[in-house]
Amino acid sequence: MSNHLLKGKRGIIFGALNNQSIAWKVAERAHEEGATFVLTNAPIAMRMGEINELASKTGSQVIPADATNLEDLENLVTKAQEILGGKIDFVLHSIGMSPNVRKGKHYTENDYNYYGQTMDVSAMSLHKTLATLYKHDAMNEWGSVVALSYIAAQRIFPDYNDMADAKSLLESIARSFGYHYGIKKKVRVNTISQSPTVTTAGQGIKGFTEFINFSEQMSPLGNASAIACADYCISMFSDLTKYVTMQNLFHDGGFSNTGVTQQVIERFGDQ
Ligand SMILES: NC(=O)c1ccc[n+]([C@@H]2O[C@H](COP(=O)([O-])OP(=O)(O)OC[C@H]3O[C@@H](n4cnc5c(N)ncnc54)[C@H](O)[C@@H]3O)[C@@H](O)[C@H]2O)c1
Repeated sequence: MSNHLLKGKRGIIFGALNNQSIAWKVAERAHEEGATFVLTNAPIAMRMGEINELASKTGSQVIPADATNLEDLENLVTKAQEILGGKIDFVLHSIGMSPNVRKGKHYTENDYNYYGQTMDVSAMSLHKTLATLYKHDAMNEWGSVVALSYIAAQRIFPDYNDMADAKSLLESIARSFGYHYGIKKKVRVNTISQSPTVTTAGQGIKGFTEFINFSEQMSPLGNASAIACADYCISMFSDLTKYVTMQNLFHDGGFSNTGVTQQVIERFGDQ
């Protein structure tokens, strides 16, 4: 269904790895809503080649960029404007990776080189992207940047490990840069805190299946799907949300404000 919400808008979409990726769904929805955009991902993620399928489906070009590398980001921002024929209206940052999670390191025994990489890839990359856009004056006024987060930024979910710290930093960067970019160019910067979702990154978390079921039962509306998240991102890129900035927006079926549900409490009867 299209409402032409992004008609004439130009974007950059980070993080579409395969058709489970949240960024993949955002690209499909942005295309339906009339946007033109470039797709980008880390050069290593290109090896799978699946992104080319999305590119041809949405009439997009792919520009490889490691989001931790400033030269790659400069190239991306310059080429995106050349390809799209003008300044950028929206950016999706949909990037996360923790070597500590991947290698099964317990939070209390994190490797600090890995820890630094987690912060760089999953949080500082947002700062680097925003700083590159800012330096090149690459965004149009009222442009919108959205990064994806998770509630482990506020509350402990033990197996989320150092990604929790990265998400706290990510949300803080959105607030701080949102201030500066708002003053300079009326560009908005927000994070969307999404329900657990079955994707490559999601499944990397230990005990993910149990966890996704728990979250489902703790959310009055149930877990929000990747497609629903894409719809929310589209609304944040559209002109209907122009005065929303520097926010962390929960998109989680009510999980974040639920102490307990009847469904969950009933499991704790006579023990
Ligand atoms: N899946 C969930 O349960 C869930 C819940 C809340 C938030 N999120 C967040 O949503 C975002 C997207 O994740 P997803 O669930 O769609 O999984 P995904 O694995 O499909 O996407 C993660 C992406 O990050 C990219 N990436 C990793 N290192 C990179 C680098 N150096 N430069 C550029 N890109 C790099 C990967 O190639 C991949 O495309 C992440 O920020 C994730 O933390 C996911």
